[in-house]
Amino acid sequence: MKYNKIKNKFLNFFKKEGHKIFKSSSIINKNNKNNKLMFVNSGINQFINFFFKKKPKYLKIANIQKCIRITGKHNDFNVVGYDNLHHTMFEMLGSWSFGIYSQKKAIKLAWILITKIYKISKKKIYVTIFKGDKKKKLDFDYYSYNVWKKLINKDNILFFGYNNNFWKIDNFNLCGPSTEIHIDISNNNNNKKKIKQLISKNNNDIIELWNIVNIKYIIKNNIIYKNKKIYSNKYIDTGMGLERLCMIIQNKKSTYDTDIFYPIIKKIEKILLIKYGINKEIDIVIKIISDHIRSIFFIILDGIKPNNKKSGYIVRKLIRRCLIYSYKYLYIKKPFLYKLLSVLFKIFYKNYNYNIKKYKYNLYKLKKILKKEETKYFIFLFRNIKFVKKYIINKLINKKKKINKNLIYYFYDTYGIYYFLIKKICLKLNIKIEKFKKINKNKIEI
Ligand code: ALA
Repeated sequence: MKYNKIKNKFLNFFKKEGHKIFKSSSIINKNNKNNKLMFVNSGINQFINFFFKKKPKYLKIANIQKCIRITGKHNDFNVVGYDNLHHTMFEMLGSWSFGIYSQKKAIKLAWILITKIYKISKKKIYVTIFKGDKKKKLDFDYYSYNVWKKLINKDNILFFGYNNNFWKIDNFNLCGPSTEIHIDISNNNNNKKKIKQLISKNNNDIIELWNIVNIKYIIKNNIIYKNKKIYSNKYIDTGMGLERLCMIIQNKKSTYDTDIFYPIIKKIEKILLIKYGINKEIDIVIKIISDHIRSIFFIILDGIKPNNKKSGYIVRKLIRRCLIYSYKYLYIKKPFLYKLLSVLFKIFYKNYNYNIKKYKYNLYKLKKILKKEETKYFIFLFRNIKFVKKYIINKLINKKKKINKNLIYYFYDTYGIYYFLIKKICLKLNIKIEKFKKINKNKIEI
């Protein structure tokens, strides 16, 4: 089943079940007093006020929301490229009940959708349930348990505590027990025996797919209250990652192998004259580029240009991460990211209801913005490499000094020059680097 069909099936299913289908909101969060997120990081974002309204206009909602998780509590930035699952930008399939149906119905709907419509084998499904927390005076989630035990083998139900199965909506005071659906994508029969050690651990075999939360508490300063308005079993917030769903349905081991990423990766291969799936380091670069370009595309299209301030700085960081990785591993020294934009326009523009009349204009505008930013980075990078070289020649070579740890940090902080570049310069200039034990690799090394 293809990406677009998977999306349509989700929306049609919930529509038939009486849900109002909403469009995705902009990926840029509208800042207000209560919501200081830079980017929308979950489908619930645009409906958050529905929790507090006496009578929300719609009681059942579903949508597909473009989300970014690189700031705040949910931050996957450094993981992206190094695993097969995490993304800076993802599409969230979400459904909500605002006081009309409970966890019982939400679980049943999820079960029908994944087993009957998406035809995921029941044997491969595991679920996790909140086991309660005595200290926090939170009960075992028996609502979910009572539903699941009728649908699924008891061995496939696992119980976890506050850290795993209690969901807090980032930036808001709303929270509640969650039940999660996980899929074993391997054919390894041994997984069943040690499932407790594998599940919810970012394991490559057991994929966390759907989070179904009963929002029934308010959390303030780490204290959890039963709020009169919210305390009901009928406030449900669910979210499922589209990339992971495609990966499972399309029988792939990585989200990057799905047809969402396929056209983007093909274009990267063509532009950079490389092949995906042959060399580990090149794959990391390709994954980073194909992931980040989606975030870059949506952020700029939704109105934020790369710059030094807040969300603008995040786009800049994403662009620079792509460029420095391709410089390090592929020796690319010229702007190229902008050339990928035409593919993204083809995949997402219509899909996300942008004004089709503005297609050409926006493509042209985005290309220009991105190319300019890329060019700027290369100018900055090569100029600063020169500065560092000069510094080393003037201050170290003549005095026969070695490079020490502080200097390495200094070069990074002042000139944005990574350790691998310093090593290269030193090799050329035949200058030694002092041996050191502890260094914050994450900061200076890519
Ligand atoms: N919206 C919730 C999530 O992000 C359910 O997983």
